[in-house]
Amino acid sequence: MASIGSKSCDKSIMFLIVFVLFYMQQCKCSELELLLSMKTSMKDPLGSLHDWILSQSFCHWNGVICDDLSHVAKILLSGKNLSGILSETIFNLPYVESIDLSNNQLSGEIPRNFSSCLALRFLNLSNNNFTGPLPQGSRIPLLETLDLSNNMISGKIPENIGLFSKLKVLDFGGNVLVGSVPKSIANISSLEFLTLASNQLLGEIPRELGLMKKLKLIYLGYNNFSSGIPEEIGELTSLYHLDLVYNNLTGEIPSSLGNNLFGSVSERKWDMPALQMLNLARNKFFGTLPDSFDSKNLENLDLSENGFYGTIPKNFGKLSELMELKLRDNKLSGEIPDELSSCKKIVSLDLSHNQFSGRIPSSLSEMPVLSFLDLSMNQLSEYKGISEKSDIYGFGLLLIELLTGRNPADAEFGKRESIVDWARYCYSECHLETWIEPIMKSDALNNKNKMVEMMNVALQYTASEPAARPCASDVAKTLDSFYIHSVHAMVSHHT
Ligand SMILES: *[C@@H]1O[C@H](CO)[C@@H](O)[C@H](O)[C@H]1NC(C)=O
Ligand SMILES: *[C@@H]1O[C@H](CO)[C@@H](O)[C@H](O)[C@H]1NC(C)=O
Ligand SMILES: *[C@@H]1O[C@H](CO)[C@@H](O)[C@H](O)[C@H]1NC(C)=O
Ligand SMILES: *[C@@H]1O[C@H](CO)[C@@H](O)[C@H](O)[C@H]1NC(C)=O
Ligand SMILES: *[C@@H]1O[C@H](CO)[C@@H](O)[C@H](O)[C@H]1NC(C)=O
Ligand SMILES: *[C@@H]1O[C@H](CO)[C@@H](O)[C@H](O)[C@H]1NC(C)=O
Ligand SMILES: *[C@@H]1O[C@H](CO)[C@@H](O)[C@H](O)[C@H]1NC(C)=O
Repeated sequence: MASIGSKSCDKSIMFLIVFVLFYMQQCKCSELELLLSMKTSMKDPLGSLHDWILSQSFCHWNGVICDDLSHVAKILLSGKNLSGILSETIFNLPYVESIDLSNNQLSGEIPRNFSSCLALRFLNLSNNNFTGPLPQGSRIPLLETLDLSNNMISGKIPENIGLFSKLKVLDFGGNVLVGSVPKSIANISSLEFLTLASNQLLGEIPRELGLMKKLKLIYLGYNNFSSGIPEEIGELTSLYHLDLVYNNLTGEIPSSLGNNLFGSVSERKWDMPALQMLNLARNKFFGTLPDSFDSKNLENLDLSENGFYGTIPKNFGKLSELMELKLRDNKLSGEIPDELSSCKKIVSLDLSHNQFSGRIPSSLSEMPVLSFLDLSMNQLSEYKGISEKSDIYGFGLLLIELLTGRNPADAEFGKRESIVDWARYCYSECHLETWIEPIMKSDALNNKNKMVEMMNVALQYTASEPAARPCASDVAKTLDSFYIHSVHAMVSHHT
């Protein structure tokens, strides 16, 4: 009996070994088949898949990366001009962690069922030509990045989107999605980056976003979201980027963006200490501008093309990190506060198309990196203080600085020469290219007349005889027509 027993034990061990070997073979074999079937459905004009052949191990194929056990771990084929269809088989690869097929011309529907892809962490199918609906939400335990942006994906966001509960990055931007954002999105509590911009989404921005405390970036621009910004969003303390540009949003924004302020306890506030970028442009917001921003890190504030009224609060001068301030096309009025010039990092300032009046602070000329200033289409003609010719001199100086990119303190002016004398000399004696701000050179060549005309104006403003400087009303006219309308047509040249 005993001998028989040990024999059958040997046999079963043998069987087990054979089974394991067979299983491993099977598994590898099927990975091979899955890859080959994926290849069959794609067109590959650049021959990126030319080495996807049986005579070498798939771990050596172009774009395939294996793990230590020779399983497919990554498929990285971004920007290979692949077209055709994405076979569902890619999602049956049991060990694949990362799939990047971005920047191709793949079309057809995205396989709906990738729930069997249990190891997947990263999926990037952006910049293709996929159509059809989004895949259904599914419990893929490790999936952190889902980027399906810039395709032609249509239909609604699935109600069960929340099942992708481990996502950190979700990008469905640049598609043709319709309907509203399902509330279940709040189940993705680890989400940090949310982009749904450039679709045709509508309805309210879900309050539930306020529950997603890890959110750092929300970009919902270029949709048709309506109603207000849910208060809860103002409690996202990690949020550094809130971009809701070009929607149908309305309501007032909180009168203070910060929490340790006077004002009644019940007063609505936003507490977003990390906020660097707030873009609410091209909506239907109204009310006065918040008197105080405690978002000390704010670098970029764009509230253009809304219905804001009242003045620019002096406290804006405390935004020490501010680089871009755009308030164009509102109903703002009053004087432009001197305090703005305390924001030493402002590169771009657009206050055009409002009802500002009074004098332009000459301190604007002391802003060290300002290179785009648009004050056109205001009522700055109703000057009060500007009759003093010294103010006009100030603008002239500012214009010269902007046009030439030089600073009065620059060494090149030596002890005797001033920037104004230098500019006057250059204007009559040198070629435009030698005095124009270097980064404006290419624009300048296209807009030569305009640049020359502006310099001419600047030199009149800075005439050494005050009597020779134009009077306030003439300045106002010039200002309204083109005052530094776009001295620097494209700040983007710079960045
Ligand atoms: C990629 O394909 C498009 C058309 O499908 C073609 O115009 C383009 O030249 C191709 N790119 C390369 C690098 O071959
Ligand atoms: C996806 O791929 C595109 C194009 O290669 C890239 O710009 C983008 O950053 C990628 N997305 C993520 C989340 O890495
Ligand atoms: C999705 O795939 C899994 C595993 O392959 C399978 O069990 C399930 O039935 C599929 N679901 C659908 C809707 O095709
Ligand atoms: C994308 O798909 C549409 C229709 O499916 C087709 O008309 C278009 O030519 C495709 N674009 C590219 C770049 O392949
Ligand atoms: C969201 O999570 C809650 C609580 O875990 C659960 O009851 C609900 O079904 C989830 N919704 C979705 C769509 O995942
Ligand atoms: C928003 O809705 C209006 C009116 O229905 C429509 O004309 C417009 O194209 C929509 N915009 C977007 C981005 O979907
Ligand atoms: C825009 O919002 C208004 C209410 O503020 C609403 O009546 C209108 O239907 C909205 N338009 C779209 C396209 O959602």
